[in-house]
Amino acid sequence: MALDRAAVLLGCLVLSLAANAEESKSDRMTLGRQLFEQNRLRPPADDSPLAGPRLGDGLGPLFNGASCVECHHMAGIGGAGPNDHNVEIVSLALPLGTPAETTRLMASRAQATHPGFFESLNVSLHRFGRDRAGSMRTYDDYRRRLRDMFPAELRPATETGQTFGDGMRYQLAQRSTPALFGTGLIDQIKPSLVRALAVAQRDNHPEVAGRMTDAGAGRFGWRGHVSSLDDFVRTACAAELGLRVRSGAKGVHDQPAWPVDGPIKSKTARTPLDMSEKQVEALVAFVRSLPAPQQVLPASFEDRVGIDAGRESFEDIGCAVCRQPDLGPANGLYSDLLLHSMGSRLADRVAAPMPPPRFRRVQSLHTSVVPIRTPSTGGGGYSGGGSTLSLGAVVSPTTQIIEIPPSLGELTAATEEFRTPPLWGVADSAPLSARRARRDA
Ligand code: HEC
Repeated sequence: MALDRAAVLLGCLVLSLAANAEESKSDRMTLGRQLFEQNRLRPPADDSPLAGPRLGDGLGPLFNGASCVECHHMAGIGGAGPNDHNVEIVSLALPLGTPAETTRLMASRAQATHPGFFESLNVSLHRFGRDRAGSMRTYDDYRRRLRDMFPAELRPATETGQTFGDGMRYQLAQRSTPALFGTGLIDQIKPSLVRALAVAQRDNHPEVAGRMTDAGAGRFGWRGHVSSLDDFVRTACAAELGLRVRSGAKGVHDQPAWPVDGPIKSKTARTPLDMSEKQVEALVAFVRSLPAPQQVLPASFEDRVGIDAGRESFEDIGCAVCRQPDLGPANGLYSDLLLHSMGSRLADRVAAPMPPPRFRRVQSLHTSVVPIRTPSTGGGGYSGGGSTLSLGAVVSPTTQIIEIPPSLGELTAATEEFRTPPLWGVADSAPLSARRARRDA
């Protein structure tokens, strides 16, 4: 009898634990969704679950939007974004083959245009910024002057080059907002699957073979430069909203450099975070939960026949070589997650990540170590032999080595590459949905 009672009590305990776990999961999802939608121009009450950790001052100093949903909203929360919310990137457009030392000199001079050129030859031209007093006027004036140097309408970056008053040439590139539906599934695809696909493409279709990043793990961002959803969400918090958040083992994702009157925030480790770890995890969990788009077939038999015929020609003419219908758990993805060179007209100065250089010893008057280009293991090459890599070395007679990342100076194949964007949900993605919305109106 006593045993029976114990069993019943134990059963109740297990059930209530399971119910609690379910409840906390759904609480976390609700919090994640609220954080995704939260308009950070209106600070929440101190006792709200949306309030940041103590002392975190939130949004900015530079930001591209006040919430995630401001850009990711077409066809529902988490969707693609319209072109007027494109992220803009200004790059120093140095001529091909600019020597390393000149590149450095130019970059340090360009800091007068934007302090971000201290770290990179590409800086995000944020849409908004607040000064120390909280006003957005100062940055708005600065930005307008800089932005007005470039064509107002959308153009390939290669057609936007302008020489500024400082005598240097700059370009403007844009990135449109992709839909986040199904990114949780994309995150689960095994890198080994992507590696196998890269090898198969290289062997069977060398003319269109793509290149993988991070040994098959790179899959987010237009250049496949980020390998996990968790990491991209943290990057987005910092880069799009200017929130200081923790970044895995690497410490902290910092906010962008303030271009108006010196850094507005201290970069010391004691600067408070703007989102707690619990909040970031809830935001990641929410993005991960956004459902993958499903193909909806028409009801009538005749229409379905047409779609079947379309699918057959899609395969026959070779679209499916890069547009793999299924990849691991991502059924209906229609992407290989590989980078393909889109030609020099669509190049911009933000290079896709290249495999790390290998080092080898070479015999010369003075024995020195020189990085050499090596193709990624198993990855395909570029069509047209565009595999010249700007990763170079300036080797002085005294074995000094300066490594130059591909983004510095030269226009290489890595600046022409784009990741095959998934086709699922394409009918609801920008810019098609914008057209469709107009047509439907
Ligand atoms: C100003 C518009 C804008 C805002 C605001 C914004 N994003 Fe994005 N998002 C983009 C753009 C543009 C890209 C593509 C970036 C790239 O390729 O480098 C992107 C890409 C992403 C990706 C990668 C998707 C993929 O498949 O490659 C994730 C995840 C993401 N954003 C999450 C977020 C989250 C979470 C927030 C809020 C913290 C946010 N974004 C705020 C514009 C925005």
